[in-house]
Amino acid sequence: MKLNSLKLHNFRNYEHLNLEFSPNLNIIYGNNGVGKTNLVEAIYALSLTKSFRTNNDKYLIRNGELSTKIEGEVEENTINNYQVILNKEGKKVKINNNISSKISDYVSNINIIILEPDEQVILKSSPLARRKLLNIEISQLKKDYILYLNNYNKTLKQRNFYLRELMINSNASLEYLDILTTKLVEYGEKIYNYRNQFIENINQYLTNKYQQIFEIGNLALKYNSDYKNKDAKEIKDFYKKNYNREINAGKTLFGIHHDDIIFMLDGKDISEWGSNGQQKNAIFAFKLAEIEIFKQEKENYPILILDDLFSALDKKKVHNIFNLLNDNIQTFITTTELQKINKTILSKAKIFKVTLEGVKEE
Ligand SMILES: Nc1ncnc2c1ncn2[C@@H]1O[C@H](COP(=O)(O)OP(=O)(O)OP(=O)(O)O)[C@@H](O)[C@H]1O
Ligand SMILES: [Mg+2]
Repeated sequence: MKLNSLKLHNFRNYEHLNLEFSPNLNIIYGNNGVGKTNLVEAIYALSLTKSFRTNNDKYLIRNGELSTKIEGEVEENTINNYQVILNKEGKKVKINNNISSKISDYVSNINIIILEPDEQVILKSSPLARRKLLNIEISQLKKDYILYLNNYNKTLKQRNFYLRELMINSNASLEYLDILTTKLVEYGEKIYNYRNQFIENINQYLTNKYQQIFEIGNLALKYNSDYKNKDAKEIKDFYKKNYNREINAGKTLFGIHHDDIIFMLDGKDISEWGSNGQQKNAIFAFKLAEIEIFKQEKENYPILILDDLFSALDKKKVHNIFNLLNDNIQTFITTTELQKINKTILSKAKIFKVTLEGVKEE
């Protein structure tokens, strides 16, 4: 999958921008604060309709403007035009000028894997951040994943509401709770299966990728879920046995909304035990493993974005990473330090220099 061109209108610091990319390596360089990350953020938003560094779309709109438009031409077997239009009221997405009514249909089209400088923060964050990571990745792979997730969350809300009702009113019937539980488990099981499959797939590649770039060590993802080793009937029985606890709490205490993934390095939780570098490397190995899974499932490589990758890596590791990148993977790299990249690689890349005046091809 290749992004042939990108057109921005009032996106972040760009009033108008029109670029054509190499199908292989694109290097975007320039000083701090000139708009390098903004540029790859636009590519990300073209794919996922949102940013990776803010939950509030309004920051993507150029200061003083009312809306922004990101447009790109993506080549896979055919060439398609994609558009994301954001304004204060919300967002619109279009494929070949036709509005897609469902965002879930749109986001599985352009596949992106991004690695950003602070990514390892996710290891120390709450489980919510790690579930978000799973959701973003799996929604690109499976069209119906977001749908199940939305249905699950809706049912969860209803169930929590009804549990509070039961807490206050002991005469309320348990039958309706049964119905909501069955529904919750129905969606929950689908989500669990997708997550479990994804994690198993990642684990097939994880150690290998980790060792290829960095050092020795066995890396594996551990999936913690209330659904683990249980079929739908066993989960429902488990809920039933614990109805009283949930009624007393007035909310749903179990389910895939509590799932978590733990990165285990040599059998130990890397967030508790690993060095900063090891943590960074673990996330990087995870992303590289993902590339293989996307290739396997979508029969095409995703687009890879490495934002400010070299800021914390020495020259040798940068070199190892370039050796790992396959010519078939369209890659976007942003950096302030062009000199860290060796000449042979530079000669093969399309280079864009970003200054406060704009973006120039070199
Ligand atoms: N909505 C916006 N409208 C106008 N300008 C914006 C908007 N959002 C951010 N900017 C500008 O974009 C700049 C940040 O750009 P960006 O994060 O892409 O920098 P960068 O080149 O990646 O820098 P670094 O090398 O430090 O990572 C900010 O200085 C800010 O002035
Ligand atoms: Mg940046």
